[in-house]
Amino acid sequence: MKKVFVNGYGSIGSRITQFIAGDSDVELIGIGKYSLDDKVSDAISRGFGVYVPKNKLEQFKNFKISGTIEDALEKCDLVIDAAPGGNGYINKKNLYEPKNVRAIFQGGEKITGENAVADVIFNSRANYVEAFDKKYVMQGSCNVTGMGRILQPLKEKYGKKIKRFDATLIRRWADLEDSKTEVKDSIEWTRKPHHNDDVKSYMGKDTPLFIRAFKVPTRQMHVHSMDIRFNETVPSSPEILDLFKNEYGVAILYTAKGTKDIRDFAETTKFSFKDTNMIHIHADMLEVQDDIVKITYSDDQTGIVVPENHLLMQAMLFKRNKNDAFKHTEDLFHMEEKKKILEEHFSMK
Ligand SMILES: NC(=O)c1ccc[n+]([C@@H]2O[C@H](COP(=O)([O-])OP(=O)(O)OC[C@H]3O[C@@H](n4cnc5c(N)ncnc54)[C@H](OP(=O)(O)O)[C@@H]3O)[C@@H](O)[C@H]2O)c1
Repeated sequence: MKKVFVNGYGSIGSRITQFIAGDSDVELIGIGKYSLDDKVSDAISRGFGVYVPKNKLEQFKNFKISGTIEDALEKCDLVIDAAPGGNGYINKKNLYEPKNVRAIFQGGEKITGENAVADVIFNSRANYVEAFDKKYVMQGSCNVTGMGRILQPLKEKYGKKIKRFDATLIRRWADLEDSKTEVKDSIEWTRKPHHNDDVKSYMGKDTPLFIRAFKVPTRQMHVHSMDIRFNETVPSSPEILDLFKNEYGVAILYTAKGTKDIRDFAETTKFSFKDTNMIHIHADMLEVQDDIVKITYSDDQTGIVVPENHLLMQAMLFKRNKNDAFKHTEDLFHMEEKKKILEEHFSMK
């Protein structure tokens, strides 16, 4: 059986770990932990092997530690790196390359320049098979992943009929469980957001995509406001909604007032980690004006990349046929069921 190690146990790593642990196709070696905090006991109590850097073994001596990070890498076929942005590159150089281990990196890394971790960003909707023979692949960030679910279906249906996509990303400041980051009373803008090049890396360099990004003081998801300008006849709102009706990981909601409404509902329905794992098109905000379709959707920042990592893992470890991989991911994540529950709750009244 293929063996997987998750290096990092924060917002993303802890979620990935929980789902991988429930996957009978792979064996979870354990998780990498770097600081002495509550999450050490949390991981141990869930039965996960905890591995720490060699020079920190002494610090962790009061816990039942399974070994060093290097020990875990000796045993695994694939490492899912979930380190803070930029550390994935350092891990690649210091650990994964010397140990000759294949790796998935997260969206805080880069695929260009000196610190590139891979030469491809994965998006299951756009380039699933590209990951088959790669040694290193980067999973797109939450915003980059969500955009693929909107752009790819539009590209497939309308192609050159679309003149340009102008998207404004309204990004959350910090995650729900991130107690270390203070949410500042400010709106910050991002110069040259990485999302533009990241999305184009898998959609094609010639994609007419133009992104602005702002960070706002909330912990409750991202919202993307996108204007899609057509060269010719503009589709109607019902035609646009119809295009997304059966898209995996896309829910169409009518009555959510804001992102917290959706998270609060996810909590009442006992979705793991209060995640929906998807994007939510806000149909009540959809408008067609002249040659432009204006679409607004929210993006579950922490949840959306977790099933994507699971799909990417299947592509890299098993080269699994895409439909089979989606079925297997669905068995663990129940996203079809979540979509149905969300769509019923936030339906047109
Ligand atoms: N949060 C999101 O919504 C989100 C969404 C999509 C993508 N991402 C990307 O996912 C990655 C992880 O983000 P996160 O939000 O999960 O961060 P996080 O909550 O800060 O967690 C980072 C984890 O990495 C561990 N760590 C520290 N140094 C490490 C090292 N050298 N190697 C491996 N792990 C190390 C930390 O361990 P200790 O706590 O023990 O120090 C912590 O468990 C980033 O690339 C980020 O851009 C995040």
